Amino acid sequence: NIELPSNTETRPEAAKKVKIGIYFATWWALNVVFNIYNKKVLNAFPYPWLTSTLSLACGSLMMLISWATRIAEAPKTDFEFWKTLFPVAVAHTIGHVAATVSMSKVAVSFTHIIKSGEPAFSVLVSRFLLGESFPVPVYLSLIPIIGGCALAAVTELNFNMTGFMGAMISNLAFVFRNIFSKKGMKGKSVSGMNYYACLSMLSLLILTPFAVAVEGPQMWAAGWQTALSQIGPQIIWWVAAQSIFYHLYNQVSYMSLDEISPLTFSVGNTMKRISVIVSSIIIFSTPVQPINAFGAAIAILGTFLYSQAKQ
Ligand code: 3PG
Repeated sequence: NIELPSNTETRPEAAKKVKIGIYFATWWALNVVFNIYNKKVLNAFPYPWLTSTLSLACGSLMMLISWATRIAEAPKTDFEFWKTLFPVAVAHTIGHVAATVSMSKVAVSFTHIIKSGEPAFSVLVSRFLLGESFPVPVYLSLIPIIGGCALAAVTELNFNMTGFMGAMISNLAFVFRNIFSKKGMKGKSVSGMNYYACLSMLSLLILTPFAVAVEGPQMWAAGWQTALSQIGPQIIWWVAAQSIFYHLYNQVSYMSLDEISPLTFSVGNTMKRISVIVSSIIIFSTPVQPINAFGAAIAILGTFLYSQAKQ
């Protein structure tokens, strides 16, 4: 029977596609919730260095509890593992704090429009720092990505340089994070979930002294009093929600990175931004000019073209 072998071969392929589809949908949904609570917290309590630290602390704690109670099996790691993880953690810390600083200064939608340019950073880093070359259509697809982001940036009603630069720095840092992570995960027995857990812990250690130096307990105490008086005790739940959802969406994204290439990851991430941009504009009633939306649409279309060209 000639049909049988090909059927049995395609079944695992189809199952894998369904699995990745479920990961992507969960990742995007968790990310939308994170972005909404993160911005609600930052509006009332504008201390992005602390909120970034709390997100990592919460994720680290959740994973330590999961390991201790054996909900998840703790990974077996050695010094070599942590050494290889270090540059990934540095890139993750920079990308995370830069994005949060950005979102404390500008609309969530604006940060994510700029962050939709991540594939362009990926190509430029691979080309100029790693010496990889790509077919001409890949370079051409960067024109709408960069042009669209630029158009959206110059027509943004509430443009802020720190907000813009934060998103750009985050793009660059996350390209390195994804390249290093994929290399670090290759051939290792540590699963995507545990890899991200270790990454959170190491990033937490790196970020904490900087958060104290840049903002510090005095600022936090004063800001917290103001936030509590304006919002009431529910601000505690907002902080908890942004921290928990931050960990969950990243954990799911790393579970999918286990199965896909950094390129597919980057593209999936850009598609995720469409749901974040649309939902945050609705929830926060962000003013958008047609030309601004047009720029965002071109940038996102550019990402589609990029993924086609890369294939
Ligand atoms: C962060 O705080 O790390 C950013 O909001 C995450 O950005 P991402 O959407 O690229 O994960």
